[in-house]
Amino acid sequence: MSSDEHKLLTSLHVQYIQNLGASKADLTYHLTAHLRMNAIYWGLVALCVMNHKDALDKDEMIEYIMTCWDEEAGGFGAHPGHDAHIHSTLSAIQVLTIHDALDRVDIPRVTDYILSLQQPSGVFAGDSFGEVDTRFLYIAVNALSLLGQLDRLDKDKTVTYIRQCKNFDGGFGNVAGAESHAGQVFVCTAALAILDRLDVVDIPTLGWWLAERQLPSGGLNGRPEKLEDVCYSFWVLSSMSILNKLTWIDSEKLTKFILSAQDPEGGGIADRPGDMVDVFHTIFGVAGLSLTGYPGLDDIDPVYCMPASVIEKKGLRKGWKALPRRTA
Ligand code: FPP
Ligand code: ZN
Repeated sequence: MSSDEHKLLTSLHVQYIQNLGASKADLTYHLTAHLRMNAIYWGLVALCVMNHKDALDKDEMIEYIMTCWDEEAGGFGAHPGHDAHIHSTLSAIQVLTIHDALDRVDIPRVTDYILSLQQPSGVFAGDSFGEVDTRFLYIAVNALSLLGQLDRLDKDKTVTYIRQCKNFDGGFGNVAGAESHAGQVFVCTAALAILDRLDVVDIPTLGWWLAERQLPSGGLNGRPEKLEDVCYSFWVLSSMSILNKLTWIDSEKLTKFILSAQDPEGGGIADRPGDMVDVFHTIFGVAGLSLTGYPGLDDIDPVYCMPASVIEKKGLRKGWKALPRRTA
């Protein structure tokens, strides 16, 4: 391994993100159409964390997002002509928030759309087809908060559902009764943070379960007996920073693991060393590094997975704590 691989290859990652979607003839471009809106958000937040927000054209991005508006449903689809989905709707709202362009959205309509997906139990469906998951609950809470519409949510009903997903190990699952999973721990903990209901969390038990996600390689897994994966650097670390327990992991070993999953030629970060890179693992690798205080990066807000300065400016910052930013 060259010494460069021990550093974050920022300019290569910026180029990698700029080139995504440049080749529309590429088969993977069409295969990933259902993730396009999310990919724009992942790419933009990664650029923000690396202090290269302007590497993608702002106006072009906003115009693209507006072509994904589903007038019938009142939400955003992943791609022009796709039906609205709660996840692409959050990504659209996040990108418009970063670019200070929320005035382009019909806020009462999109709020109605999001609220229409809440089920009698308190959980949310992702779209009108009805699959339910705590991911969609978090997405709804995050989006309503960014829109300034949290007062319209039945908060008690929402918290009641999260409480039902809490397990003996302190973690949370995707639906009531399901096993703990670090991705679901993130969505439930972050939703409770936004709702000012962290009293629901058994902090020492969950902090311990999260710390146990670190494997001898330094990487983190999502559940016991699973392989380490770069994206869990965010799902686990964001939860730990919300609980103020980040010092319970070995951040130096984790940093090395994330850096070793970079592609030193084409840029981008993979799930683990040697695998194909993608923008999902690139953002969550960079976001994990930011939370460990990696030098030269901008702060990420672990609750909203947005640039911390954007959330602070909106007055939405909660009491999370990242590790101090190191100097190079
Ligand atoms: C694991 O994914 C991750 C999760 C379950 C959390 C995903 C969270 C969202 C989609 C909410 C929106 C997120 C943000 C940052 C705004 P996986 O399905 O890859 O799990 P696996 O490792 O078990 O396959
Ligand atoms: Zn992953």
